[in-house]
Amino acid sequence: HPSNFQMEEGSNLRRANCRAKGGAPGFKVAILGAAGGIGQPLSLLLKMNPLVSVLHLYDVVNAPGVTADVSHMDTGAVVRGFLGQPQLESALTGMDLVVIPAGVPRKPGMTRDDLFNINAGIVRTLCEGIAKCCPNAIVNLISNPVNSTVPIAAEVFKKAGTYDPKRLLGVTMLDVVRANTFVAEVLGLDPREVDVPVVGGHAGVTILPLLSQVKPPCSFTTEETEYLTNRIQNGGTEVVEAKAGAGSATLSMAYAAAKFADACLRGLRGDAGIVECSFVASQVTELPFFASKVRLGRTGAEEIYQLGPLNEYERFGLEKAKKELEGSIQKGVSFIRK
Ligand code: NAI
Repeated sequence: HPSNFQMEEGSNLRRANCRAKGGAPGFKVAILGAAGGIGQPLSLLLKMNPLVSVLHLYDVVNAPGVTADVSHMDTGAVVRGFLGQPQLESALTGMDLVVIPAGVPRKPGMTRDDLFNINAGIVRTLCEGIAKCCPNAIVNLISNPVNSTVPIAAEVFKKAGTYDPKRLLGVTMLDVVRANTFVAEVLGLDPREVDVPVVGGHAGVTILPLLSQVKPPCSFTTEETEYLTNRIQNGGTEVVEAKAGAGSATLSMAYAAAKFADACLRGLRGDAGIVECSFVASQVTELPFFASKVRLGRTGAEEIYQLGPLNEYERFGLEKAKKELEGSIQKGVSFIRK
């Protein structure tokens, strides 16, 4: 008798072929770090996404368990698990989108930059795999410090000769998700009706919510502006402290990552007008990377929008953000060039 595994692989193949023949829209997505605090709920959410036809779950631990579990969901995506470095290449081959939540999270008292020493090496290894096995995939980079890991990924891709800035996207969606929630609370609105652009980067003062550009149009008192800006910039720390040593945001992050991945997939499909904030190679400021609104299309971040009019408070915040960002970007670049 064939084993469960062989049976499942057989029927998975039949389903994958069947979808391919029917021409159903479907993309191949890999999650690297799929067994982690973010990776697990993110695997669940992407298994529920009708745009995903194949879902590869890679981790250095526990990937088989998460894969067996998620694969029992009666949604369309075919799920396959990959465990450890020797299986990285199989996990990546043929992927359209690679989402990376691999790496260690913060504990109370730590900044995102304190994670650099461990996560920089992890991101380098994973990106070398991407350059080799799926150089045309869109990459959604979640691992912190995003302000440095995105420049690291860019340098790895440059070295490999595969770098396309449009396809490398640092995930800052959680900052937008938090901003929408906190602003909606202050305004007494449903967060689904609120849109707050958040620009700059993804750490402390580099997280710059543009409260003067909130939709629907509204105004805030000085106290409200300061309260909201602080809360949005320190939302991650709020969760780290509440979890008291058990990690950082995982559930809201998985939600944000799933929302961002979905936007990327709709862009890949050719939907018009898909605009989200992301930390990307940019000419919006004098810095080589910056988060701002980008339009997602078939080739990734096809258009990067200017910041628009800023008020005095935001202009001051922008200068502070740029100062810190410059160092974080440089640190990432030197990690590969050294
Ligand atoms: P976690 O520790 O729960 O999970 C990380 C997973 O990565 C683990 O399963 C681990 O085995 C795996 N991993 C470690 N080395 C790996 C390698 N070489 N290849 C593949 N997988 C590997 O951490 P959590 O909470 O899921 O956070 C992951 C990362 O996301 C952290 O760096 C964290 O700071 C970052 N993060 C980013 C946010 C953002 O807004 N961009 C928000 C929240 C967290």
